[in-house]
Amino acid sequence: MKTYDYPKSRALFERAAKVIPCGIYGHLSPAPLVPPSHYPFYAQSASGSRFKDVDGNEFIDYMCAYGPMVLGYCHEKVDAAARSAYETGNCVTVPAPVMVELAERLVDLVPMADWAFFAKNGNDVTTQALMVARSATGRKKVLAISGGYHGVAPWTQGLGHHGVVEEDQANMIRVPWNDFRAFENAVYSHPDQIAAFIATPYHHPVFVDNEYPAEGYWNKIVALCRQKGIVVIVDDIRCGFRMDMGGSHEYFGFTPDLVCFCKAIGNGYPISALVGTEALKNDASKVFYTGSYWFSAAPMAAALACINELAEINGPKVMMEYGKKLLDALVELAKKHGYDLRVTGSPSMPYLRITNDPTLNLHQDWCSEVTRRGAFFSSHHNWFMSCAHNEDDYKKTLEIADKAFSVIKKNEAKYL
Ligand SMILES: Cc1ncc(COP(=O)(O)O)c(C=O)c1O
Repeated sequence: MKTYDYPKSRALFERAAKVIPCGIYGHLSPAPLVPPSHYPFYAQSASGSRFKDVDGNEFIDYMCAYGPMVLGYCHEKVDAAARSAYETGNCVTVPAPVMVELAERLVDLVPMADWAFFAKNGNDVTTQALMVARSATGRKKVLAISGGYHGVAPWTQGLGHHGVVEEDQANMIRVPWNDFRAFENAVYSHPDQIAAFIATPYHHPVFVDNEYPAEGYWNKIVALCRQKGIVVIVDDIRCGFRMDMGGSHEYFGFTPDLVCFCKAIGNGYPISALVGTEALKNDASKVFYTGSYWFSAAPMAAALACINELAEINGPKVMMEYGKKLLDALVELAKKHGYDLRVTGSPSMPYLRITNDPTLNLHQDWCSEVTRRGAFFSSHHNWFMSCAHNEDDYKKTLEIADKAFSVIKKNEAKYL
């Protein structure tokens, strides 16, 4: 089985490093891909579940652009809908009717939603959710989960991150995930000061096992928030439409006041959405919030086609089933090689870790050895399944993973 080389990726990165901060910044930065020598840096093309890098190497993609790809790259129906909007007028002085259709469809799909508001990135709508909650309650403070990620605005990045100052964090209170007692203490020690609680439906930080909500956790939180007038915000940007078409809170059985969607909503077209209850509609109207491209028709047309298709084929079920089948097989394969491969989170966006080496070195070795043979595995971040992954991908992934386990066996003495 051939291992990949990346001369063109490396040459491009050298050019990039001269004119772009970090070369590649943010979540696509190669920094956490260890060793970076085993990973591609630039894509040439993508189709279905796979992409080709600039060196002509092909990868079965288990990162799906870190979530936005959900139906498959270059999906015919989604791209046709977007193309048609581009051809008839995309960014115009007044919005296109598709904006209304998309809002109606989301309100129809998500049971708690009475309205929908559109922006571009996830962070646009997590920040908007805070503003709506503050407008509705007249309070400043926001409760969030320690290590919870909601974007890159200074309020969500912790103190100590470059460019973040104390004042940005002054109104943030962080509590550990799944610790209702800590949540209660925070609420009781800040009477009438907390505007909102924001959290992801389950805890999916990087580098560590992901955690589902404990039995009753969310419902206890919602009950206390209702009693104290605190707005419950679900950040469903990563899980949204990969667990349940009604929003991931439906999967876990609770009802928030505001839900943030992005990633899987548009199959790669730039769009995010905040949906909310009737009680908050007036405040969502009062908060002034907009952007130059937020009314573009093409991403809205793409999103409408994307969520219609996901609903029609029951996308979350398709991704969960493929994920479960692949993950069960990978765990068995690991066992055969003498390793314990731990899988946490939803099968449609799992986090994996070889537990034999808690430093993650061995796990990083395995993921990188798989990647340089043709299945893109990240070792620090949860993966993403798509509806385009198929039987061929399944077989090829297992074949590659098997080979990579044999390769790391030879190095394991370094780590164990
Ligand atoms: C849970 C969660 N919230 C918010 C965001 C921010 O979204 P964006 O990067 O589109 O601003 C992300 C992005 O990965 C996310 O995973």
